[in-house]
Amino acid sequence: MKSYQGKTVYITGGSSGIGLAAAKQFAGAGANVAIFSRDQKKLDAALPAIQAMGHDRNPSGISDRVPVPGQKFLAVQLDVGNHTDVDAKMSATARDFGAPDVLVNCAGVAWCNYIEETPYEQYERMMMTDFFGVRNTVTALLPFMKERGGNIVNVASILGVIGVFGYAAYCPSKFAVIGFSEVVRAEMKKYNIRVSVLCPPDTDTPQLVEENKTKPPETRAIAGNTGLMQPEQVAALMIKGMEGNKLMIVPGFMNWLSWTLNRWTPGLVRSVMDSDAKKAQAKKGSGGQGSGGSGQNPRTP
Ligand SMILES: NC(=O)c1ccc[n+]([C@@H]2O[C@H](COP(=O)([O-])OP(=O)(O)OC[C@H]3O[C@@H](n4cnc5c(N)ncnc54)[C@H](OP(=O)(O)O)[C@@H]3O)[C@@H](O)[C@H]2O)c1
Repeated sequence: MKSYQGKTVYITGGSSGIGLAAAKQFAGAGANVAIFSRDQKKLDAALPAIQAMGHDRNPSGISDRVPVPGQKFLAVQLDVGNHTDVDAKMSATARDFGAPDVLVNCAGVAWCNYIEETPYEQYERMMMTDFFGVRNTVTALLPFMKERGGNIVNVASILGVIGVFGYAAYCPSKFAVIGFSEVVRAEMKKYNIRVSVLCPPDTDTPQLVEENKTKPPETRAIAGNTGLMQPEQVAALMIKGMEGNKLMIVPGFMNWLSWTLNRWTPGLVRSVMDSDAKKAQAKKGSGGQGSGGSGQNPRTP
């Protein structure tokens, strides 16, 4: 990882999981780090942990973590789905804390359910957070980033390229993130703003714990196929991919294999997933939707 001394990094969803791991790694490389999320308690707990990473003056030897002089950290409470809030708070942060050289859009929520059991509000919540959240921060910050160039990393998912059983609300939000990112890349190239999309596999974070509680058996049977990664690994590969100016960052071998197979042989991927779903349906003995999924969503909005 290169030095980020004197650079400013914004991370939405920086209070937990992949976003928090990335915030710590950028802090360790000397960046000024601002994190954004809703829950003030989580922000208050995350900020000292990020600060404690300081700047490692001797990264390859005995740890020597001391913040670089002037290194700054900030936590801002906001809901990325609220565009008025995002416009106001992102602009104020850019003016007072400094405009971002790197923007990581990591805020997200995920629940599964059968299509016919997914309430409208759940579609709305996932689109508002996972897609509009990305749209809102990017459009709020483009005026500042256009003056200096920089990197934007939008966190999608392998479910942003593959439509998987049980993800009627989540998949569209992540497909939208990828489409939006491709447009931002094309339009912002002349301003030296580089865009990457991270497509993590299952990653050991609080979101995955919540998501697992809502998975119908068919989804459970399919979803275990891409392996489990730690947020620190995913964050490190995200930063490496961003530094290498990759558009699509797909961490993990099984995840990359699924992505590649889906690109070249989508029919094969669909038939493997259909077969996994069919086996799960046979096992539960009901043979179909609407009977035997979690049905109850513990975090239904
Ligand atoms: N974990 C996985 O298996 C996995 C796989 C593929 C993709 N992803 C994606 O990776 C990203 C990070 O997920 P994670 O697993 O690291 O989840 P996580 O540990 O639950 O972290 C999610 C972060 O987003 C914030 N957040 C949620 N809704 C928000 C909102 N409306 N406004 C502002 N902040 C909000 C949360 O804080 P508050 O709740 O306090 O707001 C938290 O900081 C998400 O986009 C997720 O979809 C995760």
